[in-house]
Amino acid sequence: MSQPAFWVVIPAAGVGSRMRADRPKQYLQVAGRCIIEHTLDCFLDHPTLAGLVVCVAADDPYWPGLPCASDPRIQRAPGGRERCDSVLSGLQRLGLLGAADQDWVLVHDAARPNLAREDLDKLLHELAADPVGGLLAVPARDTLKRADADGRVAETVDRSVIWQAFTPQMFRLGMLRNALGAALGDGVPVTDEASAIEWAGYSPKLVEGRADNLKVTRPEDLRWLAQCWNTGRQ
Ligand code: CTP
Ligand code: MG
Repeated sequence: MSQPAFWVVIPAAGVGSRMRADRPKQYLQVAGRCIIEHTLDCFLDHPTLAGLVVCVAADDPYWPGLPCASDPRIQRAPGGRERCDSVLSGLQRLGLLGAADQDWVLVHDAARPNLAREDLDKLLHELAADPVGGLLAVPARDTLKRADADGRVAETVDRSVIWQAFTPQMFRLGMLRNALGAALGDGVPVTDEASAIEWAGYSPKLVEGRADNLKVTRPEDLRWLAQCWNTGRQ
């Protein structure tokens, strides 16, 4: 199956509290540019990209100064209180741009700039004919323990069935917008798109990706990334 056309939504309206920096982490510099500029580059020259929306906080003073803010391939949507609110806003913007309910949309964290092209292509390829969609994920590596209330090991969990959910997460625009809207309306906490789709009764497909598709969350992640790119990107 050849690769399908796809839209991208990049939630970028977080404050990055765990990073404890002087600005939201997507605007921190690494390898000469902001994290979000590297993230956008993972998609912008892809041959089957239909369009891209970045969800930015209304009072964000950093975005307008970036060269990518005036790139005609990139549209802006308002961010929301939680990540899921930002994503829903981006999905609504896609509708206004002419995206159809059956179109694929990939949601990808602004703070995840090390997405390899091979992973993006693998996701598009493996899900092209899928009725539900899915996400890049990585099987758990370490032995996992379930803790009791005293912080002692209650049991060892079967690692072989545990995966870490990464992004991009790829679903049909209509299905995702409906699932996310309904979950939010019901007050269900959704930390990723797959959770909303699961809540709607579907089973997203896990597509194994690279472990280095890291979300920059804490200061040591940025140091790791700088070192990783210093020694030859990907
Ligand atoms: N995000 C967003 N809107 C929000 C919260 C988060 O668009 N209201 C985005 C972030 O900008 C980030 C992605 O969602 O690209 C993943 O979220 P996370 O890593 O939690 O980022 P922050 O919320 O910014 O960080 P923290 O939780 O440490 O405050
Ligand atoms: Mg957060």
